[in-house]
Amino acid sequence: MRVNKLADIQLDNRRVLIRADLNVPLDGTTITNDLRIRASIPTIEFALAHGAGVVVVSHLGRPKAGSDNTHLSLQPVADRLRLMLNRPVNLVKEWTNGLDLGSGEVKLLENIRFESGETKNDSDLARSLASLCDVYVNDAFGTAHRAHASTHGVVEYVTDSCAGLLLASEIEALERALANPKRPLVAVLGGSKISGKLEVLHNLKNVADTLLVGGGMANTFLLAAGTPIGNSLVESELIDDARAIRQASDLPLPVDVMTAETINDGSHAFLRLTDAVRSQESIVDIGPETARRYAKVIAEAGTVIWNGPMGIFEYPQFADGTRVVADAIADSNAFTLAGGGDTVAAIEQFDISDRIDYISTGGGAFLEFIEGKSLPGIEALKRSK
Ligand code: 3PG
Repeated sequence: MRVNKLADIQLDNRRVLIRADLNVPLDGTTITNDLRIRASIPTIEFALAHGAGVVVVSHLGRPKAGSDNTHLSLQPVADRLRLMLNRPVNLVKEWTNGLDLGSGEVKLLENIRFESGETKNDSDLARSLASLCDVYVNDAFGTAHRAHASTHGVVEYVTDSCAGLLLASEIEALERALANPKRPLVAVLGGSKISGKLEVLHNLKNVADTLLVGGGMANTFLLAAGTPIGNSLVESELIDDARAIRQASDLPLPVDVMTAETINDGSHAFLRLTDAVRSQESIVDIGPETARRYAKVIAEAGTVIWNGPMGIFEYPQFADGTRVVADAIADSNAFTLAGGGDTVAAIEQFDISDRIDYISTGGGAFLEFIEGKSLPGIEALKRSK
């Protein structure tokens, strides 16, 4: 996919506007996971090292019009950026009439979604953003699936635009896994529901050599195959889809599962063959034989794409399936690519980040890319060439 790269653009003494995705989880004003902030640093440092002044723009959460949104201020993010960059980072609340920016300076605009035109891709807002810079850099892979003023509209009003280092590496990793993958390509898909991932499954059934499913989504496949699933979460309306996906792909079903009658800290996990799940039980994890078989498929893969846990891994008694699969991915010689909030949480819980080749910062954007969709934030950069 051809988009301009940061290294292709003259940055010295120019004002560079970097659209980053600094939409991080907060507990009050405490950042609970700073992966996205850390991932934004190389592009900011690159621009500074090449003599630019930098304005960073991002959203945080989904502010509601007419509500008190002060808890969605980017102030905690500005503070964290200051520590990571080891230089002052001012949060700018009023900038529509321009702002002062010298070489080597970094400013962060307040949550761009506080501006009502952002999500409407409003051209006036896009023009105001463009007027702040000489170069626009999109580094917000996590927001590339949104056609907003700061991810899409702005590109029309700037002379120079390009992908940042993060966006470029996300595109490269996803293309390596999907466009011309080393085979076999194995997709490991979990999470609670098929519904949010239906398009992913439909696209991957044509691209991947094997689909390995776990989590709640496996229940719909089991039910579609006529296997009793007790009281488990299921999407009965998607049984025909599950059947069609299975018919068109190599999708081995779990042969054993872990079940529970209640789901809490103290609940007991029972090992069952998949045809022996009792009516009062819910499936909470894949079983050990299934995990072993999945691990074997992963060990023989050339490429692995992972999105979604195999069970309710937040509880230790239901975490083994996800752990075995995660370890198999970490141990594999394949090119391994993982993405999605729960997946990143599992990777952190099992402490295997260093052994996954690429961990995407995208949630929805990652899924839409795997669905085979064009992402507006990337398309805009292509058109601007
Ligand atoms: C995300 O967290 O997936 C991105 O930051 C996009 O956020 P949004 O779904 O609120 O547009």
